[in-house]
Amino acid sequence: MKIIKDVIILALETSCDETAAAVVSNGRGVLSSVISSQIPIHRRFGGVVPEIASRRHVGQILPVIDQAVREAGVDLSRIDAVAATYGPGLAGALLVGIAAAKGLAFALGRPLIGVNHLEGHIYANFIEHPELEPPFVALVVSGGHTALLSVPEYNCFELLGSTWDDAAGEAFDKIARALSLPYPGGPEIEKLAVSGNPAAIVFPRAMKDEQFNFSFSGLKSAAVNYLHNARQTGAAVNKADVAASFQAAVIDMLSERAAAGIKACGARKIVLAGGVSANGKLREVMAATAKDLGASLYYPSPALCTDNAAMIGCRAYYLLRDGFINDLAINACPALSFVKT
Ligand code: KG4
Ligand code: ZN
Repeated sequence: MKIIKDVIILALETSCDETAAAVVSNGRGVLSSVISSQIPIHRRFGGVVPEIASRRHVGQILPVIDQAVREAGVDLSRIDAVAATYGPGLAGALLVGIAAAKGLAFALGRPLIGVNHLEGHIYANFIEHPELEPPFVALVVSGGHTALLSVPEYNCFELLGSTWDDAAGEAFDKIARALSLPYPGGPEIEKLAVSGNPAAIVFPRAMKDEQFNFSFSGLKSAAVNYLHNARQTGAAVNKADVAASFQAAVIDMLSERAAAGIKACGARKIVLAGGVSANGKLREVMAATAKDLGASLYYPSPALCTDNAAMIGCRAYYLLRDGFINDLAINACPALSFVKT
């Protein structure tokens, strides 16, 4: 009888303000996923302070790995490969996870796999949707990136378009700050928007003629100027209306580009990924868009939308499966984009 052994990967994620480790079996089975969030630490500064993030990762990485391995109930010797996010992200933060992964891979004599954080966000969908397979179109909307891609097969990413300036999440965070809401701003804007009128203020939808690219800086400036003018003239501001109108403009731009991508690729599936895909209104609008176009919509549960190491383990499995491994010279790539493998 042939015994097929499960492939078990220990994955680390330290690209921004979450120190995370996960043990993942055969790409889609999460045996453990531990996240130590720094959000409360950065909140008092209104955003992530890179130096503080790196130092906090140094303090947290080994306890988080210990906990992930313990909760998975596997011995370290049973780990088949070690993976870590190597970009994009904050250089000092990335280096903590990479250094820990290198040390473990070397000590265990196992392959090391460097994972692109954005690709990890897309692969988070495989964890919760066992039936999901490429081809599909993916809309990645995170704090640092906004991009539309065609994913024709595993380990292949074709960039259709991306943001020319701010990312969608960054715009959410900046407008939240202007409204005196705490960091991270996306979930706060979403909550406030529930009681607001999305048609109260007509904020600009930029680059209407662009098929696949995005721009959020004009919208961000328009919202900040609106608040500034109101402050100067003493006009009353309905913060819920600002939140709802701003959110509606972001979602309009995202859903229009996603629809263009689905049509251009003749896609039957659209996948949302990244922190902003936790937004309920975006999911609702995208569900209607997908339905109109005869496509199925996929998104991860909120905990897998934001940063985690399970998605890194899932992505690493498919890289390992097709022989994409790294040597110990791998370095942090803070500006890494989608690489066509
Ligand atoms: O993917 P992520 O956790 O980190 C990056 O890779 O950047 O995304 C974080 C971003 C933040 O900008 C946060 O405000 C936004 O995702 N976000 C949301 C929601 N939850 C998180 N934006 C809108 N609505 C949400 N519910
Ligand atoms: Zn992320």
